Amino acid sequence: MSRKVLVLYAHPSQHRSEVNQPMFDSAGDIADVTLVDLYQQYPTYQIDIEREQQRLREHDVVVFHFPLYWYSTPSILKEWQDLVLEYGFAYGHDGNALYGKQFICAVSAGGAEKAYQTEGYNHYPIEDLLRPLEQMASLTGMHYQPPLALFGARTAVEEGRIPQHIQRWQTLLTLLKTNVLENQSIKDHSDLIHFIDQHIETTAQTASGAK
Ligand SMILES: Cc1cc2nc3c(=O)[nH]c(=O)nc-3n(C[C@H](O)[C@H](O)[C@H](O)COP(=O)(O)O)c2cc1C
Repeated sequence: MSRKVLVLYAHPSQHRSEVNQPMFDSAGDIADVTLVDLYQQYPTYQIDIEREQQRLREHDVVVFHFPLYWYSTPSILKEWQDLVLEYGFAYGHDGNALYGKQFICAVSAGGAEKAYQTEGYNHYPIEDLLRPLEQMASLTGMHYQPPLALFGARTAVEEGRIPQHIQRWQTLLTLLKTNVLENQSIKDHSDLIHFIDQHIETTAQTASGAK
């Protein structure tokens, strides 16, 4: 049975977005994916806790989709975590509502990939910067997958990298509806991209073989 995927999208200046807004729009093509635009739904940050918790109960996979802002999520995603992931719901006594779900981030960063290394000017790989989210998943019993990351986001359009990234994103959403990622040992974002690209290639070969 297809798993239900919940995409929680956080982008405070969507009219200027070249990466995440096209990704979010393209996700509408994939069945069984619920798209939630947090800034559009809660422009004054009055997050409806009951509604958000109910959404979580109704889905098997949770995706945080955001541009990296100051090495973290845009603020509404933190507010969402602070309010929605309550004691007794997400953790603590009887707090097992998220137990067994999948969790993954789709993130874009202005910095180049080589900046996200020990020797680079950002000093840490993206996986390290996302540790608080990894630990949030761990505490709440969710299976964490390394992120789908796009680096050098502000030159992605002129370098023609958006269509490939959107294809990877759409493929990832399709894969998340199955359990194939859970059964892999994907250690970082490059591994994830490698796995997705292999899947795209195999699917294309199968399709051309079928003709
Ligand atoms: C307030 C703010 C903070 C940012 N912080 C970071 C950062 O910490 N690291 C980084 O690589 N890029 C940072 N950026 C760049 C964004 O991540 C980049 O512009 C975005 O991923 C591009 O996606 P978009 O076209 O969907 O907006 C920041 C941008 C803004 C506006």
